[in-house]
Amino acid sequence: MNERDSEDVAYKLKEKGYEIVSDEKIADVVLLNTCSVREQAELKAIGKAGHLLRSQNKNTRPIVGVMGCMAQNRGADLFDHLPDLDLVVGTQKFHRVPQYVDSLIDRVGDIPKRIVAIEDEEGSESEIKDHLDTEIDNPTAFVSIMQGCNMNCSFCIVPKTRGKERYRTIESIVEECRELADRGIREVTLLGQIVNAYGRGSLRKINNKTPFVQLLESIDKIDGLERIRFTSPHPISFGEDLINCYKTIPSLCEYVHLPMQSGSDRILKLMNRPYSRQRYLEIAMKLREVNPKMRLSTDIIVGFPDETENDFELTKSAFEEVNFEMAFIFKYSERKGTPAVSFNNHVPREVKEQRNQVLLSLLEKQSLKSNNLSIGKRFQILVESKAKRGVGKLMGRTRCNRKVIYDGENCEIGQMFNVQISSATPTTLFGEKI
Ligand code: 5AD
Repeated sequence: MNERDSEDVAYKLKEKGYEIVSDEKIADVVLLNTCSVREQAELKAIGKAGHLLRSQNKNTRPIVGVMGCMAQNRGADLFDHLPDLDLVVGTQKFHRVPQYVDSLIDRVGDIPKRIVAIEDEEGSESEIKDHLDTEIDNPTAFVSIMQGCNMNCSFCIVPKTRGKERYRTIESIVEECRELADRGIREVTLLGQIVNAYGRGSLRKINNKTPFVQLLESIDKIDGLERIRFTSPHPISFGEDLINCYKTIPSLCEYVHLPMQSGSDRILKLMNRPYSRQRYLEIAMKLREVNPKMRLSTDIIVGFPDETENDFELTKSAFEEVNFEMAFIFKYSERKGTPAVSFNNHVPREVKEQRNQVLLSLLEKQSLKSNNLSIGKRFQILVESKAKRGVGKLMGRTRCNRKVIYDGENCEIGQMFNVQISSATPTTLFGEKI
């Protein structure tokens, strides 16, 4: 989501005549788009901003701004850590960034010294984002379909930084996807904090299908768009109608990232996640049943307050039972202003670390096993870019979201091919074009 927001801000700046440079060392303005989900992300951003502000003398250094969730979360308090910071822009004010940058550049002497823009503008036009930069020529694109989150997971800062749910209309999203397809984009990833709850309480169900399913069906009909993905869904809105889409919607890719957070009902309750371990396992099983090629990934938090060894064992066994092929495993991080901060029995750092390691090695084992099963098989890939390493190597993704490295020409980026897999690591497949 941050990548998508950054693209949008960059586009708005370009519209105003600014130029995006490839190296921050030659930039006149550096804007950091930030995340608040874990403390580590905030510390990293503060460290980076501090470095930029100190790296050159006061008159020649770039204008430095912090945008996004940390800006929204901390506001002017950021000056305690970064007294020379020029600009603080919250999540509701991205669209005004060019105006703020203009006035910082035009400042006479020291006036205006700093700009802090973090008030809410809920429901304003600022949410509508369908002006993608036509100069970006990736074969894939992110499309934000909603903003905000109405859930109240007790660990999570997002409802505070991103506000209440606001939905775009189906027509506006479909229109954006159609424009993208016309520009040659083959794959879209629909984005939302709770993406499958899109339209709840605001748009109607039709033939018992949720607005999200209606949206998927409409996007599927767009000519030239080969693949649809979405992230991140929530188990509470993963009904039969959505599960069935993996049978009925050809462009919907057989890959689901479905955050589980914990496999213990007691911890899920403390997290204020309104589903049970059983319900989660049932969704995962049905998804694998509907399409045997399905690949599943998840988010897990280890060391949530009061998580006992027994609770952790339940997470571990659910992780094995679903047989996740990919996962993001997080150590619980206290976020000021969230309910969990005041819960009892916080878990010591070493225990979190140890549980993290246990799940990471389980993940490595499971993903290697799954990738090894692909050796000798054929997959359709969409070629996304040059591979990070290796001359003449390109990187594409299978529908089930596995990276495949193969030998090819740069002009193949954006095309789709069948490849045969010859070897594998836990994270990557290697193959040949056939
Ligand atoms: N501590 C650790 N992980 C967190 N996440 C959200 N809040 C926290 C927190 N306070 C994780 C969840 C979520 C992912 C985006 O970040 O697993 O799904």
